[in-house]
Amino acid sequence: METVSTTSLTTSLPVPAHADRLREALLAADFTADGLLDRLGAAAYAALARSETVPALRATRGDSPLETLVRLFLLQRAVEPARAAAALPLEEALADGWVVEEDGAVRATVDVRPYGGPDGEDWFIVSDLGCAVGGAGGIGSKEEGVVLGVGGASTTLAGITVRTPVAAALDLGTGSGIQALHAAQHSTLVTATDLNPRALEFTRLTLALSGAREAELLEGSLYEPVDGDTYDLIVSNPPFVISPGSGLTYRDGGMSGDDLCRTLVQQAGERLNDGGYAQFLANWQHVDGEDWQDRLRSWVPRGCDAWIVQREVQDVTQYTELWLRDSGDHRGDPEAYRAAYDRWLDAFEASGTRSIGFGWITLRRDPAVAAGKAEPSIVIEEWPHPVEQPLGPAVRAHFERQDYLRTHDDAALLADSFTLAPEVVQEQVGLPGAEDPEHVVLRQNRGMRRATRVDHVGAGFAGVCDGTLSAGRILDAIAQLMGEDPVLLRDRTPQSIRLLVEEGFLTPESLLPDEKPAAE
Ligand SMILES: C[S@@+](CC[C@H](N)C(=O)[O-])C[C@H]1O[C@@H](n2cnc3c(N)ncnc32)[C@H](O)[C@@H]1O
Repeated sequence: METVSTTSLTTSLPVPAHADRLREALLAADFTADGLLDRLGAAAYAALARSETVPALRATRGDSPLETLVRLFLLQRAVEPARAAAALPLEEALADGWVVEEDGAVRATVDVRPYGGPDGEDWFIVSDLGCAVGGAGGIGSKEEGVVLGVGGASTTLAGITVRTPVAAALDLGTGSGIQALHAAQHSTLVTATDLNPRALEFTRLTLALSGAREAELLEGSLYEPVDGDTYDLIVSNPPFVISPGSGLTYRDGGMSGDDLCRTLVQQAGERLNDGGYAQFLANWQHVDGEDWQDRLRSWVPRGCDAWIVQREVQDVTQYTELWLRDSGDHRGDPEAYRAAYDRWLDAFEASGTRSIGFGWITLRRDPAVAAGKAEPSIVIEEWPHPVEQPLGPAVRAHFERQDYLRTHDDAALLADSFTLAPEVVQEQVGLPGAEDPEHVVLRQNRGMRRATRVDHVGAGFAGVCDGTLSAGRILDAIAQLMGEDPVLLRDRTPQSIRLLVEEGFLTPESLLPDEKPAAE
């Protein structure tokens, strides 16, 4: 009886007419992220995320509704109709097309994967069979219109997105709808676009099955379907792969080099409302004779501040292997694999590309900058170290701190008081047994988890920053303690305080959450 369904994009997609009933049944069976972890156990659950299905199959040999749903929707097994009927409203699920009955067995037409929202919501991501990351077939599909489920890049973008309540959000390149689903929680109107019309259908299913509000679904390339409209939030996990063309819409946008990412970023400025954020994942070329930071700086549109974080750099060979493996080429004909590898390297050589950077790009439309009354704040940095997601609040705080620094000169800084961020620790670095440390490091254990080297004044200053004394008063006390001239100390320290504020170690009183006006 147990057969594995195969991926076929010709299968017509379900309609969400009875999505509520199906959702109720999935929840009643505990087909949720937590329920799965309980049922499968940590090892099988983790194996599934690596596309290994044997442990999950072994853990679902029983006939409980949860086991039936795992087999149907995650492991692509056909099950007996009576088992299916015990786990879900079979008639409605058949009528909608979530499952089909063939050769006396029921099988799923789509992958439905439980996904836990940030506030404990039980959501479901619907994608092509075998195309959820961890799907029974891995993500090695070669079919052009294939729609993938949630991957590492999807959750990274969801985590860094600023979640301020807004009126209008745009998810460009929505795929199976994960970003639209998140946005639906804090945006009155969500518009989701995709070049691939199947993706829009999947987004509709994901939203309906997750119990979320419907989104406006528009087909088309880049900003073309929303021309003339503006948003408070734009998010995109675009097809950023830089390749000589693979025909896979979900990862290659069909433009040359990093042109797709550049276009997306450059054209975002005019589509943002004042104060609005645009957040992207992107890849960019490191080209011979060009500073990668200059390349990215040239992408930032007029009227916007920007924070660009390069998370990883791969040389062209690592990059080529990564993406040839992603599409399963390494499992095919060895000669074809070598030819494809060669083609990728030819293309990189022709464009003078040495390596490829991967990272996050956040823009914020700044009315003062747009009006020419302030210089844009553009921070482009490399931070390959582990961070603590979700980083959305840290992204927003970054821009607020930039505003603060821009509008406070040294005298204003010294008159202000600061609070040390929670969970910052001091590390003393030096030779074992040495009386004094060679240097002192302050380390954040939250958010970006930054570390910064400070001198004794910096460490002492940060240590007493609890918001009660002004920076100037603290420096005077330190000067007295160390027998230094207070005027000289006041002169030379603001630069270090600025750095500690910029990197989020110190927060000025005006930016502490409880100090903000209620309306914000
Ligand atoms: C990497 S997937 C991202 C899916 C989803 N938003 C996520 O975060 O997981 C990229 C999506 O962009 C779509 N796409 C490809 N080229 C596009 C274009 N020129 N304009 C708009 N969307 C495009 C693909 O069909 C695919 O759904």
